[in-house]
Order: sequence, then structure tokens, then C-alpha cells
Amino acid sequence: MANEDIYTFSEAFPMKGGDGIHSYTLNSNLQGNGVIAAKKLITESIAEKLDIKIFSSLNICRIADLGCSVGPNTFFAVQNIVDAVKFKYKNLGLDSQIPEFHAFFNDHVANDFNTLFTSLPPNREYHAAGVPGSFYSKLFPNSLLHIVNCSFSCHWLSKVPKEVIDKSSSAWNKGRIHYANAPDAVVKAFEAQYQKDMDSFLCLRAQEIVHGGLLVIFSPSRPSGTSHSQSAYNMLVDALSPCLMDLVKKGVVDEKKVDSFNIPVFHFSPEELTQAVDRTGYFSIEEIKELPLTANGTLSLEQLSLHIRAIVELSVKANFGEEILDELFDLYLKKLQELSFNFNSENSINVFAILKRK
Ligand SMILES: C[S@@+](CC[C@H](N)C(=O)[O-])C[C@H]1O[C@@H](n2cnc3c(N)ncnc32)[C@H](O)[C@@H]1O
Repeated sequence: MANEDIYTFSEAFPMKGGDGIHSYTLNSNLQGNGVIAAKKLITESIAEKLDIKIFSSLNICRIADLGCSVGPNTFFAVQNIVDAVKFKYKNLGLDSQIPEFHAFFNDHVANDFNTLFTSLPPNREYHAAGVPGSFYSKLFPNSLLHIVNCSFSCHWLSKVPKEVIDKSSSAWNKGRIHYANAPDAVVKAFEAQYQKDMDSFLCLRAQEIVHGGLLVIFSPSRPSGTSHSQSAYNMLVDALSPCLMDLVKKGVVDEKKVDSFNIPVFHFSPEELTQAVDRTGYFSIEEIKELPLTANGTLSLEQLSLHIRAIVELSVKANFGEEILDELFDLYLKKLQELSFNFNSENSINVFAILKRK
């Protein structure tokens, strides 16, 4: 990949910081439960796939969590890895040789790192450092990292594809903020942006991860072969569009602002991730799985709408102003109720992949 293709800039859409009622900290147990459920898979993969020789004579295991947000999920993710490495050493009878752990927490500079650092687990078994910046840029020196985790983060694109907010383009996404039920040209623009971004992400990580090191990707997804409009995650994002249009009809929101606002997420399928890994060629796929979501039992539609609010509130506020937030998310909850939104459907999956640097 040519240097000029590696992004030095990416748009930032951070989660709602702090620990208030609309914060990501209090409204992210859907993601947190996913991270906790992945512990067994991580433990097995590290036991089977990781060669401990990669820790070298310094005997330090360097872990990075990309798109860490404000916690607590990032702490679960890092602890899962620490526990898995320790388990492996113990199983090999090498208790006395367990490495020291150094964890790097990465997110956009606008992320609430203060909340993150003040809530670091007091009894943690790792040294902690913050790494601000986009994961669509190079974040670490070459061959520094041993295990990189990215949970619920790399479905965020580096930017909104420019043609979808260009009135003169056939891909102009008028009246919608997402591609789920949009014309083909809009879907293609998002797909192309995803391919460019995922290729860039993998090429950058290939530089930063030592040979034999692991990259764990855990992401909201859609089953291979399922249309974008049928994926549960896409339906969740897409349900915001009619609510904004209702506010346009009420004269609360300027229609031009809806036409120029899109949420840059792409819920890639396991197949689309595999294609990116094959295209770039730096990693082997050690494991790739579709994990079902069974959230409705534990998460009401009210809570689900609060989850989405914690994710998109800051970008909605930046585009439309703070005053619309409560009304918009009231409408959004009603929309989810009207749709009888069901997260237990077969189209609700996360993709879990373990890649190894060749
Ligand atoms: C839904 S949160 C997930 C947080 C956490 N990993 C978890 O599992 O709960 C997505 C995070 O990815 C971050 N993010 C999105 N794009 C990013 C980028 N290009 N570089 C770094 N962080 C990014 C966002 O700022 C946000 O904090």
C-alpha cells in the first residue's frame, strides 16, 4: 500500500463520556456482555495459536485495545487477554515466567480519556498507557505489539463517503442517515469506503504487530449473504432516519441538515472481513465465527434506545443542536416499539475473528 493511501486524518464520532444517565459507561452492557462472552474463545485461541516466543527476552506482553472508549468494556477486553496468556503459561508449567503486561488504550483524541483513566481497575495486572489518535493512522512503532483487540469499533468508517452528502451525486442519500434502505449507489459508496478503510486498518496493524502476533476483531455484523436492510444492527441505525424526518415535518429540524448527515458505520459480514484479510495478505485467519446476539431477554427497548443515544448523541448534537435530543430519542423509542424491534432474530450477529500476523 502506498504511503499516501494511509490516512493521517479521520472524522471522530466519540461516545458520550462521563458517567451520567446518557453516558456510554452506563449504556454499553450490550457490548460489554459480548466482550465477556468472548472470553472463552480468546482463552482457547491464545492457548492454541499464540507462540510465547514472540515475547522475546524482555518478557513483556504488549496489548492494545483500539477504539477503547471510556470503559468498563475495554477493561474486560484487556483482562480477558491477560488471563488467557497467564492461563497458557500455567498450563505449560511456566508460572514463574509469566511476562509483564503493558496495555495501550487507544481512541480518538476527543474520547473522554479522563473518565477512562479514573476508572482503571485499581488491582490491574498491567501497566496502562493512553494512545490518542485514529486507528486509520499509524499509532505505534513497527513490530511493537503482541496482541491487539478491537471490539465494537472497526465498523466505524474513517469518514462519511463524500458522494452520499453531495447533492449533485447519484449517491446522494437524501432524507436518510444510513445506507440500509437506500438506493444501490449509496450502498456501493459505503461498501467502497469500508473496503478502503478495512484494507488500511489491516495494513497499518500489520506494521505494528510482531510476526506471530494476534489481532482480535469483534464487531457488530450481519450474516454473510443477508441484505443490508435485514440486518438487525442496520435496522437500529436506520430507524433514526424517519424520526429526524418527523422533526423536519414539525419544523424543528432543517431538512438540509438531515440530507447532509450520515452515520459512518458499516456492519460488515464475516465474508466481507475474510475478503479484506485475503486482499491485504498480511494475516492468516485462525478463527472466524458468527456469534448470535440474545439481548432482548436482558435489554428492554428503552435500554436499547439509550444505548444508541450514548453512541450517536455527540454527533447528532454537533449537527442538529442539543435542543432536539430528548424529542428525537423519544420518537426513536416509539419507532422501535412500533417495529417490535427484536434483537433475538437470526440476523442479529457479531463477528468474532482471530487473525495472526504472518
Ligand atoms: C461503540 S464504542 C466501543 C467501545 C469499546 N471497545 C466497547 O467494546 O465497548 C466505539 C469506539 O470506537 C472509537 N472509534 C471509532 N473510530 C475510531 C478510529 N478511527 N480510531 C480510534 N477510535 C475509533 C469511538 O470513538 C468509540 O469510542
